[in-house]
Amino acid sequence: MNTPNPISKRDPSNDRDWFDLATHWKLRSDTIYLNHGSFGLQPNVVRHHRRGWIDRLDEQPMDFYLRQMESALYEARASLAKFVGTSAANLVLIDNATYAMNIVANSFSLNPGDEVLINDHEYGAVHRIWQRACDAAGARLVSATLPDSFESKEQIVDCLTQSATSKTRLLVVSHITSATALIMPIEEICDAFHKQGIAICVDGPHAPAHVELSVENLKCDFYTASLHKWLCAPLGSGFLYVHPRFQNSIQPPVKSWGRLLPAIPETWDEEFTWIGSRDPSPFLSVPQAIGWIQDIGLDNFRERACWLASYTENCLRDLFNTQPIGDRNDGWYGAMTHVPLPPGDWSGLQKQLWEQIGIEVMIIQFKERWYVRVSHHLYNNQTQINTFIKAISRMTT
Ligand SMILES: Cc1ncc(COP(=O)(O)O)c(C=O)c1O
Repeated sequence: MNTPNPISKRDPSNDRDWFDLATHWKLRSDTIYLNHGSFGLQPNVVRHHRRGWIDRLDEQPMDFYLRQMESALYEARASLAKFVGTSAANLVLIDNATYAMNIVANSFSLNPGDEVLINDHEYGAVHRIWQRACDAAGARLVSATLPDSFESKEQIVDCLTQSATSKTRLLVVSHITSATALIMPIEEICDAFHKQGIAICVDGPHAPAHVELSVENLKCDFYTASLHKWLCAPLGSGFLYVHPRFQNSIQPPVKSWGRLLPAIPETWDEEFTWIGSRDPSPFLSVPQAIGWIQDIGLDNFRERACWLASYTENCLRDLFNTQPIGDRNDGWYGAMTHVPLPPGDWSGLQKQLWEQIGIEVMIIQFKERWYVRVSHHLYNNQTQINTFIKAISRMTT
C-alpha cells in the first residue's frame, strides 16, 4: 500500500520526479499499459481499501447491510458530489456511464416526431442507446457531422446548433470524446443549447480528475460518468447527475425497496440506495480515490499526464508526418493523444503491438481513417513511450 510522497512540485518532464508514484500501482510486468482511457487501473491504496469493504461485507452481511452500508454510501456520494461540483441530492452512484446513460434514455420523455441530437464523434454504445429510445418513441436520432479539423470552439458550437431544429428535445454530447480523444467546448455548447431551451445530457466518463469539472456550472440537465478512468476508482463506480427540473421523471433501472426497510424512499435519489443485495465496495472506495489523487495534486497529475501526451504526440507526428484533428496548444487534448496513422489498413496493428511487445494501446478506425490513441497516467514514463514509438515505427514503416 502506498501514499504519495509529499513532493510539492514535480517537474512534468522529468521521469525521476515521478518514479515513486509508479510504485503505487501493481502493474503486470509483461505489459506497457497505454490505454488508461479505456479501462483505468486502481492504485494500491484504492484496491486495498476496496478489499476492506468486501471483507466487512463477507464477514457479517447483516451488520454490513443493515447498520453500515447506507451511511457509508451517503458519505461516499457526498465526497463525490463535492469533487464534481454539485450537491449530493442531485447525484446518484451508478455502476458506470453506460448504465447511467441507459437510465436517462429510459426516463426522458420523447414523443413521435421529436428529435435527439448527437454527433459523429459520440461513443458507439451511446448511439445505440438513443437509437433504441428514439425507435421506441417514434422519435428521430439526428447525428451532426463535425468538421474534419477542429479550429475553434465557435466552429463546433455552430455546427451543433445548426443541426438543431424546432423538434430537437435533447442534445447528447461527450465532454471528452472516445474515438477521437477531443475535449469538447462543453461550457459553450451547454450555454448555447440551454439558451435555446433544449435539454442537455453530457456523456462524461473521461472528465472526472482529467479536466476541471463543475457539473452544476455547466447548466446541463444530465451528466453521466464512470470513475474507473482518470480518477482511478474501482471498475463498477460511476455516477448520474440530474438537474432538479428532471428528477421527478427519473426511473431507477431496478425497482426494489429503494431504501433499507423500514425507510421508504422519499426522493428520486433514495430510489437508488437499495436495488437488491449487491457489492457496493466500488462506490465506497470512491472517497479513497479522490483523496489519493488530491494528495498528489490534481494540477500535478494533469501537468505530468499532458506532458507525456504531448511528448508521445510529437514523436508520432514526426514519425507519420500527420496532423491530429485539433491543436493540443489550443486545448483540444489532455492526457490522451490521437494521431492519424499513414493511409492503409491498420486493423491488425493493435493485436501486433500486444502480442509482439506487450503494449496495450488503442488503434481506432474513425471515418475511414486509422488513428492511434495513446493514454497516459502517472505510472507511465518516457522509456515506455520510446519503446512504443520504436515498435509502432517498425510495424508501420
Ligand atoms: C465517451 C464515452 N462514453 C461512454 C463510455 C462507456 O463507459 P463505461 O464502459 O465505463 O460505461 C466510454 C468508454 O470508454 C466513453 O469513452
